[in-house]
Amino acid sequence: MKSIQVRAERSYQVDICDNWRTEISSVFESRETYVVAPRRLLSEIGTTIAENKILVVPDGENQKNFETLQSLAENLASRGASRETLLIAIGGGATTDLTGFLAASYLRGIDWLAVPTTVAGMVDAAIGGKTGINLTSGKNLFGAFNSPVRVIVDTSWLNTLSARDRAAGLAESVKCGFIRDEKILQLIESDPTENLVEIIGRSIQVKADVVSLDFREDGEREILNYGHTLGHAVERHSGYTLRHGEAVSIGLVFAAKLSQKFGLGKEVVERHSSILQNLNLPVSYEKSAWPAIYDLMGKDKKRRAGEIRFVTLKSIGFTERQSAAVGILSEVYREIGR
Ligand SMILES: NC(=O)c1ccc[n+]([C@@H]2O[C@H](COP(=O)([O-])OP(=O)(O)OC[C@H]3O[C@@H](n4cnc5c(N)ncnc54)[C@H](O)[C@@H]3O)[C@@H](O)[C@H]2O)c1
Repeated sequence: MKSIQVRAERSYQVDICDNWRTEISSVFESRETYVVAPRRLLSEIGTTIAENKILVVPDGENQKNFETLQSLAENLASRGASRETLLIAIGGGATTDLTGFLAASYLRGIDWLAVPTTVAGMVDAAIGGKTGINLTSGKNLFGAFNSPVRVIVDTSWLNTLSARDRAAGLAESVKCGFIRDEKILQLIESDPTENLVEIIGRSIQVKADVVSLDFREDGEREILNYGHTLGHAVERHSGYTLRHGEAVSIGLVFAAKLSQKFGLGKEVVERHSSILQNLNLPVSYEKSAWPAIYDLMGKDKKRRAGEIRFVTLKSIGFTERQSAAVGILSEVYREIGR
């Protein structure tokens, strides 16, 4: 088993193993434990966990709301769950976000453990302690920083994941490759399926290192937003018909082309497009959407002192922050528009 240390408001380990069932069973023996999982994963969980210990939630984004949060909290209270109770989230990013926030608020805070079952969950959502639910006004607007006590990653979960969700999750790994670890890019270029476990492990290491330097996103953690300023705007503009990773893929190509304006080599920009396209991820978006996209980027939380700031790439492994004028932004957008 490979373990990666994260130093946040508490220190915890991300354990990359090949038998989550054994790991979870030993946790159950040590304290009162409940699992939160979407219905879709119940057959996969099978008899590993007693049925009366599983709190079933709706699938995907439909679980990240007050209604589900309240019903889970009432359920825990009616079972007499105490400060010693442990919650285990088994699922994608939606489930770990919801469970982490439930754990932050039930009895003013109980422990939780994450078992991410998607690529996005493994390399991103379950690591870093950002938890929460959606508001009608927008995604992830209500939550808390609350790290799990442990993360158990077992890539055998990914065998049942759709090709689309698998590729979308890998967009975050491509980002990790460009901002911090070129080896990830080489592994994806050589064979993303064959090298999946190493790609995931290295991506987790990048996120763990950055989060350990800046848990509350006051500085260094901003580099994880590479590709996300335009990505978030595109994701919202698509009405969430695009997966987060698909929107980030478009955002990465935009960020690379913007970086080129500040000196990034053309070959690195082209490498973004070729890696992402080979993963079957989109790299362009509707030309006519620019005014709306620009407006949405301005509303994004990365706007500071009236300017939209971007994380840009100086060279592979080295990022910068740049504020770009609207003229440059629209010119770059035209290049990715279709
Ligand atoms: N907290 C963070 O730092 C952070 C970072 C990135 C994303 N997120 C959040 O994560 C969510 C996106 O992540 P996601 O794509 O994992 O979402 P998700 O949890 O909605 O999972 C996507 C779909 O895959 C299904 N699924 C999960 N595991 C599966 C498996 N092993 N086999 C087959 N199907 C499976 C789910 O039921 C769901 O339908 C969003 O809510 C996003 O806001 C949070």
